[in-house]
Amino acid sequence: MITYLEDARQFQINTPHSTYALAVVDGKYLCHVYYGKRLEPQNLTDLLRLDHPPFVPSKNERETASFMDCAPFEYPVGNTGDYREAAFGIETAEGYSVCALCYVSHRIYNGKYNSRILPHTWGNGAETLEITLENVQLGLTAILSYTIFEGLDAIIRSARFELNADHPAKNLTVTRALSASLDMDDSRFEMISLYGSWARERQAERLPVRHGKQRIDSLRGESSHQYSPFFALVRPETTEDSGDAYGFTLIYSGNFLAQAEVTQFCQTRVQIGVHPDDFAWLLDYEGGTFETPEAVLVYSENGIGEMSRTFHRLFSDHLIRSKWRYCDRPVLLNNWEATYFDFTLDRLKEIADEAAALGIELFVLDDGWFGHRDSDNSSLGDWFPDQRKLPGGLKPLTDRLSALGMQFGLWFEPEMVSPDSDFYRAHPDFIVETPERCRTQSRAQYVLNMARGDVQRAVYDQIKAILDSAPISYIKWDMNRQLTEVPCKGFAHRYMLGVYSLMERLVSEYPDLLLETCSGGGARFDAGMLYYSPQIWASDNTDAKERLRIQYGASLFMPPSAIGAHVSVCPNHALGRNTPFETRANVAMNGTFGYELDVTRLPDAEKAQIPEQIRRYKEIAPLIRDGALWRLGDPFAPSGFAAQMQADYDAWIYVASDKKTAVFTYVQITAEANMKPRRIMLRGLSPETQYAFTRNGKAYCYSGAYLMQCGILIENLWGDMKSEQIMFRAV
Ligand code: GLA
Repeated sequence: MITYLEDARQFQINTPHSTYALAVVDGKYLCHVYYGKRLEPQNLTDLLRLDHPPFVPSKNERETASFMDCAPFEYPVGNTGDYREAAFGIETAEGYSVCALCYVSHRIYNGKYNSRILPHTWGNGAETLEITLENVQLGLTAILSYTIFEGLDAIIRSARFELNADHPAKNLTVTRALSASLDMDDSRFEMISLYGSWARERQAERLPVRHGKQRIDSLRGESSHQYSPFFALVRPETTEDSGDAYGFTLIYSGNFLAQAEVTQFCQTRVQIGVHPDDFAWLLDYEGGTFETPEAVLVYSENGIGEMSRTFHRLFSDHLIRSKWRYCDRPVLLNNWEATYFDFTLDRLKEIADEAAALGIELFVLDDGWFGHRDSDNSSLGDWFPDQRKLPGGLKPLTDRLSALGMQFGLWFEPEMVSPDSDFYRAHPDFIVETPERCRTQSRAQYVLNMARGDVQRAVYDQIKAILDSAPISYIKWDMNRQLTEVPCKGFAHRYMLGVYSLMERLVSEYPDLLLETCSGGGARFDAGMLYYSPQIWASDNTDAKERLRIQYGASLFMPPSAIGAHVSVCPNHALGRNTPFETRANVAMNGTFGYELDVTRLPDAEKAQIPEQIRRYKEIAPLIRDGALWRLGDPFAPSGFAAQMQADYDAWIYVASDKKTAVFTYVQITAEANMKPRRIMLRGLSPETQYAFTRNGKAYCYSGAYLMQCGILIENLWGDMKSEQIMFRAV
């Protein structure tokens, strides 16, 4: 419910458990009043501290400079006396940057604004507040938008800008335009963010905020392995299940900035948006408007777990568009770790035969099927089958798969080109470059200039020709290098819009296609991609132990059903560790499950487990997709001296929305000799319901209350990385 309190000139956005309030001060300044636990609509403007201006160093009644330097602005601009980080900035043709934005009007309506060029939330039950701000001298209008969806403690924010067509200032350049900025009244926060690298994505870190700016960002042209466009501010006492947690993410896959700035008066300015450092946008470009990606703000009064569940629900119900969002995804086998580039049609058929016999439903042919690609040194851009490896093209393989009752999926890297390719030789000007500067190669490839319509069309025509030539039900869309030598500020955003437009065309023309996006593992594991692809490859690291951390980090803000997770062979190809086959599967089931190995070469004892694993996954997949995730362990917990009696483990439970079924998974990361069995308190169950389950062939029945208060006893398992999965059913 969104309310406008006329007397207080205050807007109050109420979700089931949160309130977000802002107010118009002095008839023109839009200020942030409150964000936190729900309050009934009431005048909150006292929270603005307007009658207590600071001494900076003069102190007149409401001296403007003093006011500007500390007022909690809702969408701050620079160069007007607010020396904190601005959300918005411009440059006029003369080079001037002063641009105050003043309140003009607002409207509250059912529904929301949906961008035509950016991924965005959508669906029924939306209510929106739009506040129009203006700079009269420059003829510039800004519309700040706040949307809530029924039943969710989330607020979707974005901003749009346009120039008044009759105004002479037609060439104004927007130099920064963040999606959201928010001034919290205090700084007693810790910041949770996700750092990483290739094969080590989404490592969670929690540190107290301090004075100054703490930021995570990407200037790589993708949301990146290194930081995710997500962070949370929590109170020092906040846990998984209690305390305030504020989560922020961006529905965007390119360069971003996410920042918390603690000021001289111990306020915290929170910001998220497209990275301003390499951004510029000429406002008369394409009709004189600019719109920011949507930012998502989530508040939870019940800890980090509830914050995550709100993101999961919002993204599952109001962001993922694919028809697959509520459907069982096929269990796939991907041949990458099985064969890499080295395969023949016969090898693929052998693997497919065995896979089909074990119950695998989708065969994914990864890199190496096109051009003359025997290594990563050639052929990106030549999207036609390599006749040496696939004589007769894809048909002999897809005929075999159809006979086996298997679906077929194919890998593409549409945004890239190898210098050694016919496509590059025909179109050397299609790449991202700055004329007469060096052209940096990475993985022996260049990035195609997706900001250009003709480049998009040339790539799309090739993909379409392949899609129309064979029964292809799945595509893995990869992106294996970062941008370099971008020609100008703002290019990276145009590039991203081009990629989105290409993806839009693909999913609109092939609505049944299951699209899995990927970027050298998990460098584009973000909410922007979710709009097009319901699952995203989370990391090239398939080691079960490391996956616990990667998937824990991912689950902080992304729905588990989006996490592409595969069982691979040991020693693991990324780091050489051995883990039990059963645990590899139990960990991969905490996401969208598949195999990435050569089933024909698997030890019989492991192969024999596959049909049962698939049966189990089919049973629990609806819970992982539509149920609620409760994290019960922390794979980042310190081990060793500092954590005696707390050997590392991880555990989680998915509970169906009707609470009638639940699946619990426990992983003993490190075994300990002679330690008493561990009790894990379950969460999310219905206290009064009796739950039946079997363990080691024995049947049990306990109430939800017992399982949540007394827990389930886990005996010491023999060996590291041992695991157990238990299915609970209400009786
Ligand atoms: C990336 C992907 C892998 C695989 C390779 C192929 O690294 O993350 O899964 O597809 O490319 O080159």
